[in-house]
Amino acid sequence: MTNARIAGTGSYLPQKVVTNQDLEKTLDTSDEWIRERTGICQRHIAAEGEYSSDMGLIAARNALHMAGIEANEVDLIVVATTTPDKTFPSNACAIQRRLGVHGCPAFDLQAVCSGFIYALDVANRMIRTGGARTALVIGCETLSRITNWLDRSTAVLFGDGAGAVVLQATDQPGILSTHIHADGEFENLLEVPLGTDYMVMNGNAVFRKAVSTLGSIAAETLTGNGIDKHELDWLVPHQANLRIIAAAAKKLDLPMERVVVTVDKHANTSAASIPLALDIAVRDGRIERGQLVLFEAFGGGFTWGSALVRF
Ligand code: UT7
Repeated sequence: MTNARIAGTGSYLPQKVVTNQDLEKTLDTSDEWIRERTGICQRHIAAEGEYSSDMGLIAARNALHMAGIEANEVDLIVVATTTPDKTFPSNACAIQRRLGVHGCPAFDLQAVCSGFIYALDVANRMIRTGGARTALVIGCETLSRITNWLDRSTAVLFGDGAGAVVLQATDQPGILSTHIHADGEFENLLEVPLGTDYMVMNGNAVFRKAVSTLGSIAAETLTGNGIDKHELDWLVPHQANLRIIAAAAKKLDLPMERVVVTVDKHANTSAASIPLALDIAVRDGRIERGQLVLFEAFGGGFTWGSALVRF
């Protein structure tokens, strides 16, 4: 049976950093409120003229470099983004062109903060069924462009960035399972309303639903694989709020030292947050080959999902 393994990871963050103290100057908010309620201290914001495909391209190149794979070996590109550069062509086609790759399937997929898990699910299935052997799975976002910087209930929460993985066909264990779900019933709790440019959120309702849903997706994943929660080496969660992450870790009986947290420095980068956090923990040596890693995400739609990975 062919499996897909993560052969390399990469990421990119824009240079500009906006701290909570910077936001205090323009919004009725405080560093203390933001840190206590979210764990966020700062976020990176794309420069003028810097788009999500620019960031995704750099993350992809870094992932290919780590994997020791040439761009011309890539035969599938899936990009998760809610903030593509243009309505069309897709960011995936833009990245394909700039990598100098021709002919392989390349498309964007939109599942908001769960987008990377959805993209991983699709690429994993393509590899397992022989449709691809070397896939780039990228999450890249410029949420700053759909943020109302005058709305304190959302402006403090989001940031820009990109992360990527190279998936490669293997007969060794790799991605053990992926699980994706959605329920459009909750559309209005987190959305860019029709005819408007900026996102709005009922934060408290989203918070409660996120905590309960992430508990059930983790249970579904462990049960589906017949493993005990104590066998997990790492949790790499979507980075929306430190309190949501801590609640998920508690349910898994995982100490916070076994959870990759980047929300303090990156804020919520939507589809980019998991591959960004993964890349940071792989490059600083925390996540090692052979370890068992759980990814989980929850976001607008609502969408949610998870992946269990033998790294
Ligand atoms: O990634 C996709 C999914 N998104 C999420 O998972 C985000 C989920 N939600 C959250 O992370 C949290 O709900 C928030 C961080 C957004 C808000 O935290 P909360 O503990 O749920 O606060 P709240 O919305 O219930 O608001 C509490 C108070 C309110 O004031 P009153 O009504 O109690 O007087 C808000 O007006 O905090 C006020 N508030 C703020 N105060 C200072 C809201 N935003 C701010 C702010 N600074 N930025």
